[in-house]
Amino acid sequence: MRVFITGASGWIGSAAVPELVGAGHQVVALARSQASATALEAAGAEVRRGDLDDLELLRREAAASDGVMHLAFKHDLVYSGDFQGAADADQQAIEAFGQALEGSGRPFVIASGTLGLAPGGSPPRRTA
Ligand SMILES: NC(=O)c1ccc[n+]([C@@H]2O[C@H](COP(=O)([O-])OP(=O)(O)OC[C@H]3O[C@@H](n4cnc5c(N)ncnc54)[C@H](OP(=O)(O)O)[C@@H]3O)[C@@H](O)[C@H]2O)c1
Repeated sequence: MRVFITGASGWIGSAAVPELVGAGHQVVALARSQASATALEAAGAEVRRGDLDDLELLRREAAASDGVMHLAFKHDLVYSGDFQGAADADQQAIEAFGQALEGSGRPFVIASGTLGLAPGGSPPRRTA
């Protein structure tokens, strides 16, 4: 399978990419920095340089793939206090993938968290 993966350089992605490559899949990975691109190429992935906000790139790569694994998340925004901004970007990306994959029967895998907050509560912040 040709698998397009976002967040491939992250904690989960850096385990998923070698598993996919080792199983014989063609992995195409989104990377927003040269450091991530270099690491991903060393792991056997093809790289597409870009950002999660490039929805046209996400749609194009999803349309050209047999499946998508979406792991990228703007944790940097969360740590700066903008959880809503990170969640909005995630939703936009998921909707873009959905537009490309809808009705195709091709798999779409995401990793996400379940956050429980009281109404009016604030998301947890990293303190160290
Ligand atoms: N790890 C866990 O225990 C856990 C538990 C529950 C849910 N999750 C969820 O699973 C997903 C992956 O988690 P993780 O722990 O692997 O995350 P992570 O280690 O923080 O990795 C995040 C990935 O997202 C990429 N990314 C961040 N901002 C981006 C942007 N603007 N454009 C493109 N890529 C961007 C990062 O790329 P760079 O290399 O460029 O930084 C990195 O590859 C997240 O949605 C997370 O909330 C994780």
